[in-house]
Amino acid sequence: MLLIRNIGLLQTPTGHTSRRGSRQGENRKYRNAAVLIDGETIVAITEDGAIPDFPADTETLDAGGRLATPGWVDAHTHLVFGGWRQHEIPLKLKGASYLEILQSGGGILDTVRKTRSIRENDLFERARGFLDEQLRLGVTTTEIKSGYGLDLENELKQLRVINRLNREYAMDVVATYLGAHAVPPEFAGRADEYVDFVCKIVLPQVARGNLAQFCDVFCETGVFSAEQSRRILETARSLGLGLKIHADEIDALGGSELAGELGAVTAEHLIATTDAGIDALSKGNVTACLLPQTSLYLNKPFARARDMIGKDVAVAVATDFNPGSCPSLNLQFCVNLAYLKYRMTPEEALTAVTLNAACAIGLGEKLGSVEVGKQADLTIWDADGMELLCYRMGSNLARTVVKKGKVVVK
Ligand code: NIG
Ligand code: FE
Repeated sequence: MLLIRNIGLLQTPTGHTSRRGSRQGENRKYRNAAVLIDGETIVAITEDGAIPDFPADTETLDAGGRLATPGWVDAHTHLVFGGWRQHEIPLKLKGASYLEILQSGGGILDTVRKTRSIRENDLFERARGFLDEQLRLGVTTTEIKSGYGLDLENELKQLRVINRLNREYAMDVVATYLGAHAVPPEFAGRADEYVDFVCKIVLPQVARGNLAQFCDVFCETGVFSAEQSRRILETARSLGLGLKIHADEIDALGGSELAGELGAVTAEHLIATTDAGIDALSKGNVTACLLPQTSLYLNKPFARARDMIGKDVAVAVATDFNPGSCPSLNLQFCVNLAYLKYRMTPEEALTAVTLNAACAIGLGEKLGSVEVGKQADLTIWDADGMELLCYRMGSNLARTVVKKGKVVVK
C-alpha cells in the first residue's frame, strides 16, 4: 500500500460524469489530508490531520503540506508525428494564414510526408519522449489522435503506436482515429472519394482491430464540409466508435450543430462558435473541449467559455499538442490561459483538466477525481492552492506524480 500524508490541500471535483453549468466550479477541498492507496486504487481519504489505518509495510510519501489534485488529463493531442514545422513561422509572420499554408501543400501535409517516412519503432520512441514530458508536467492520462498518415498503412501505423504506448507506458492513453484531418495528395481535388475511402476501407479496419475508441473529423473551410463530416461520423457511430469533431476552429461551418445532433462526446476548438452552436452543444450534452494555446498560437480569439458554462455546456481544456497550430505540451499554461482569457475560476479550470477531460475521453468512471474506488492518479504541486497554479506562469510546478498507485515522478 501507499499512504500520501501531509497534503496541505487536496482539491478535486467529484463524480463519474462531466460537470456542467454551476456544477463545473464545485470542488471538494480537504485540508491536512491523507490518501491511502491499495495497488492501483484509492481506498481511503482523511482530513483535518487524521490518518487512515494502514498496514505496517505501507510505503509513505510526505506531501510536505502542498496541494494535491487528481492527475491531469490531456483530452486532445496529436502527439504521434514526424518532424517539426518551424519553417512555417516566417511565412505566418509575413501574413500567410494557416489554411493558405495547408492549401499550398504544407501544414498538415508537410507533417504527413514526414510521418509516412518514419519507421514505426522510431515513431514510438519519439512519442514516448513526449509522454515523459507530460508526466513531468503533472499529466497522467492523454488522448492521441492519428491523422498524419492518411493512407491505410500509415494511419494504422500511427494507431498501433498509440495503442502500444497505452500498453507499455505508465500513462493511460486513448486513441482517436482522425483520418479526415486533410485530403492526402493522392486524393487531391477528390475529397468525396477520400471520404468514401475513409468510410469503406479504413474505418472498418480500425473498428475490427479495436485500434481506436473515438473518431474525429477536421470540419473546416477547404478541409471537410459539415456534410462530409456527417458521413464519416455516422459511419464511425455505426461501427461503435465514440464521436469527436474539430469544429469552428477557424470558421463556423455547422460543426457544433452537427456534434449536438449526432450526440458527439466532444466538440473541440470552438473558437468561432455562434450562439446557435452553443445551444446545440448544450442540447446534445456535448462536452466543449477548448484549446487556449492554439488561439494564442494562431493569433485567434479565445473560445467563449463563459457563455458555454452559462448555457450548461461542460467544458474541458486541453493542449492540442501538434507540430503546426500548437507545439506545446504544457497543460499548466492552458490553465493560466483558461483563468485569464476564458475567465474560468480556479475550481472550474481544475474540473476542466481532470474530471471533464476524463469524461471527454470516456474514462470518467475510472479516473479524473480523487475518490475512494477511483484509480490512484495524483499530482502534488509546488503550490498551496489552484489560485497559485492559475497565476504562476512558465514554470513547471508539478513536483511529485503518482500514476496507478506508483510514484512515477519524484
Ligand atoms: O487541432 N486543426 C487540425 N489539427 C490540428 C493542427 C494540426 C497541424 O497543423 O498539424 C489542430 O489545430
Ligand atoms: Fe487538434
